[in-house]
Amino acid sequence: MDLYNVLAFTGIVVCVNAALLDADNVYCPVPWCFCTKHSANCSNNGYNLTFIPALPKSTRKLTFIGNWLPNVTADTFETIKNLSIEELSLQNNSISFISEDAFETLPYLKRLNLGSNKMSVDVLKSSFYGLRNSKLKTLFLPYMDLPDLPVDFFLNLQKCPLYEIQMYFNQFKSLNGLVFRPLRKLRYLHIPNNYIKSVNFTGLEHVEMISLRWNYQETVPNFCNEFNISMLPNLRVLDLGHNVFQKFKQSDFPGRCLPNVRSLSLGENIIRKIEDNTFSDLRKLERLSLTWMRTNYLVFATNAFNITSLEKLYIGNHVNFDQNEENIKLFFQNCPNLKVLDMTKIRLTYLTSHQIYTMFKPLTKLVKLVLQSTALLNLPSNLFQRMPFLENLNLKNCLIHGWQENTFKNVTSLKVLYLDHNKITSINKTSFPSEFLNSFEKLSLKVNPFTCTCDIYWFRQWLKDKTKASKLVGFPNDFNCYSPSEWNGRFLVDYDPSYELCHPISPYVILGISLSVAFVVLVLSIGLLYKYRWHIKYYIYLMRSRKGYQKISGEDDFHYDAFVVYHAKDRIWVISELLPYLENREKFKLCLHDRDFEVGELIVDNIVQKIQISRKIILILSNNFAKSHWCQFETMVAQNRLIEEGGSVLLLVMLEDLKARNISNSLHVLLKSTTFIEWKNDGPGKELFWKRLNACVRA
Ligand SMILES: *[C@@H]1O[C@H](CO)[C@@H](O)[C@H](O)[C@H]1NC(C)=O
Ligand SMILES: *[C@@H]1O[C@H](CO)[C@@H](O)[C@H](O)[C@H]1NC(C)=O
Ligand SMILES: *[C@@H]1O[C@H](CO)[C@@H](O)[C@H](O)[C@H]1NC(C)=O
Ligand SMILES: *[C@@H]1O[C@H](CO)[C@@H](O)[C@H](O)[C@H]1NC(C)=O
Ligand SMILES: *[C@@H]1O[C@H](CO)[C@@H](O)[C@H](O)[C@H]1NC(C)=O
Ligand SMILES: *[C@@H]1O[C@H](CO)[C@@H](O)[C@H](O)[C@H]1NC(C)=O
Ligand SMILES: *[C@@H]1O[C@H](CO)[C@@H](O)[C@H](O)[C@H]1NC(C)=O
Ligand SMILES: *[C@@H]1O[C@H](CO)[C@@H](O)[C@H](O)[C@H]1NC(C)=O
Ligand SMILES: *[C@@H]1O[C@H](CO)[C@@H](O)[C@H](O)[C@H]1NC(C)=O
Ligand SMILES: *[C@@H]1O[C@H](CO)[C@@H](O)[C@H](O)[C@H]1NC(C)=O
Repeated sequence: MDLYNVLAFTGIVVCVNAALLDADNVYCPVPWCFCTKHSANCSNNGYNLTFIPALPKSTRKLTFIGNWLPNVTADTFETIKNLSIEELSLQNNSISFISEDAFETLPYLKRLNLGSNKMSVDVLKSSFYGLRNSKLKTLFLPYMDLPDLPVDFFLNLQKCPLYEIQMYFNQFKSLNGLVFRPLRKLRYLHIPNNYIKSVNFTGLEHVEMISLRWNYQETVPNFCNEFNISMLPNLRVLDLGHNVFQKFKQSDFPGRCLPNVRSLSLGENIIRKIEDNTFSDLRKLERLSLTWMRTNYLVFATNAFNITSLEKLYIGNHVNFDQNEENIKLFFQNCPNLKVLDMTKIRLTYLTSHQIYTMFKPLTKLVKLVLQSTALLNLPSNLFQRMPFLENLNLKNCLIHGWQENTFKNVTSLKVLYLDHNKITSINKTSFPSEFLNSFEKLSLKVNPFTCTCDIYWFRQWLKDKTKASKLVGFPNDFNCYSPSEWNGRFLVDYDPSYELCHPISPYVILGISLSVAFVVLVLSIGLLYKYRWHIKYYIYLMRSRKGYQKISGEDDFHYDAFVVYHAKDRIWVISELLPYLENREKFKLCLHDRDFEVGELIVDNIVQKIQISRKIILILSNNFAKSHWCQFETMVAQNRLIEEGGSVLLLVMLEDLKARNISNSLHVLLKSTTFIEWKNDGPGKELFWKRLNACVRA
């Protein structure tokens, strides 16, 4: 010890001398320290560094940790006294004594850390005397094994603008607010990791943030004094996490005693049930954390979150969560202003998609929703559309296989989406709407059991877009194929099927094409058959007539003088004009198909037969006749006889002028090769007509 003090002293002398010799030109004392422009770090030199060396003039911040400085006096800071040191860290220097005047040499000090040094409360208290006129703002006293502090502990610092004190890992058994009363500027008080059981907040009127995490409180402290007046009227943030609370009542958090509380952390306690309206009285509460409860069983009552002002709610990660299934759907009906909701590990497996929809329906202002490890099975397709501000959605580690096409439709605000560690086998073109695929910032799909078949072709192609793939968390190393078996465990990037492989011509397409071709052929054939049906019948007739009907020919065999071919619409003319003249007056024997055809025989046969046994054939030509296929057939049969027996067989009577479009090819040939008699309805014309007709029939 003595040896080191001597060493330290000589060191100081040497350095002081060096500084005196060249006051303007001090270099960083390597190897003890590392320096940057405004800071010097002289740490972990142990017994090798027992004094503070001279440092460059610009140094503002000195980190001097893990060295040997048991006796701190004004001399200790002699070398740096002319510097404007604002920040000083002296942890773990085995400091056991600090003189009253030691810190007086550092008038610019704003931030001081004396942690991990064991000294008496009295030494520490009197060391603050040197800081009484300083600008000290932040004081760290962690790991110092300090016992409960006397009320006058900070009295020396009452003129300092001290606004933050951190005293974690000490031996405090209680918190007495009066200790901090002299510090009128104090706003942040961190006393986690102590043994505090009892708390008296009197004296902390100005404090805005208190952390009492990791202590041993069993009952929620009073926030009001015995006169029913708030002791913490300015408190905004209160952390009572990881104590040993077993129950929270609504009366534990009276609004009038915590009138300004915005954030409340109560996780990691031994709570089994959060009752209805427990926090409803805290009218300004915006953030509530009830995570990681250390119980095997935790229940939230239906109205536990009846807090209209609430914006951030963290209720997940319990050691073992067993929520009453009835209530969960109605959880959020009275906190419609939630922007952040974390339900990590709250089991939602048993909820139907509709129940989940009902549950989240009121939360239209959500910006971030964490449903990680909720074992959620079904994503309601119309839910996220209700959240126009949703930017960050975490569905990690659920049991999601897929979702409906419109699940992410219209969720235009979505930037970050986690879907990793699920049961997704394929991503296809309709999985995400294009607006999402064009605008997302982060998408995690890693560790899913992808099926490396053509089902994933679209996704595989999409992954080739480097800028998009770079926003894909864990790509390519955490994207593996699961099936088919030959691809199991291999990288998805290695599966790269060609377009042709994944787009063969479908048998249905082939079948479809064949069927349509067959159909077209069929329709065409039917059409052609229909169009040429008379031609066909005619050829059939020709075939037959060559075989068996020829013997009928011969002068004596004629049974009729004339076979009259006419259209049914011209029947009146035939009956009223032609018949009376030719049959009644001139005594010709005419064959009219509607009068003389034999019942029961085929009309075709009838025509053919009757034409064969008629001496002449009279065609009554009209537009109706020309249009009619039936008459065309008869014309053809007649024409055939004309060809066989010469011009005199056929007589053409033109009832009216024929329209050009009605004149078929065969009729045209007939009209050109045969003379015809035109019907005239006036007296002399009629007479001439009959005369000519008579002559022709007789010829
Ligand atoms: C100071 O240096 C030590 C190593 O010598 C390092 O571990 C530590 O992080 C540094 N601290 C700062 C504040 O730079
Ligand atoms: C102290 O110095 C000695 C000799 O220079 C060196 O071997 C040792 O590692 C140093 N100790 C520390 C803690 O830096
Ligand atoms: C304190 O410093 C010494 C010497 O550098 C080191 O060996 C020790 O690990 C440090 N202790 C802590 C708690 O940092
Ligand atoms: C600390 O050092 C001062 C002088 O530098 C000396 O008077 C005092 O006795 C020392 N205290 C202890 C506890 O070593
Ligand atoms: C500090 O400054 C004063 C006056 O400017 C000077 O006399 C003294 O030597 C300086 N001390 C050191 C250690 O540089
Ligand atoms: C808290 O401290 C104040 C001031 O010492 C005292 O009047 C009050 O009774 C204490 N409250 C409790 C509950 O001990
Ligand atoms: C505190 O005041 C409220 C209303 O201001 C009252 O309901 C309550 O009973 C009072 N508590 C005590 C302990 O006086
Ligand atoms: C919700 O809290 C408000 C304010 O404390 C209260 O008036 C209301 O009755 C509560 N609603 C229910 C359903 O308990
Ligand atoms: C989708 O967005 C459009 C435009 O913002 C809106 O008019 C429409 O109602 C939305 N549809 C759904 C289902 O949310
Ligand atoms: C495409 O993905 C959606 C949603 O994941 C799914 O509903 C659909 O069945 C998939 N379609 C094909 C052809 O795989």
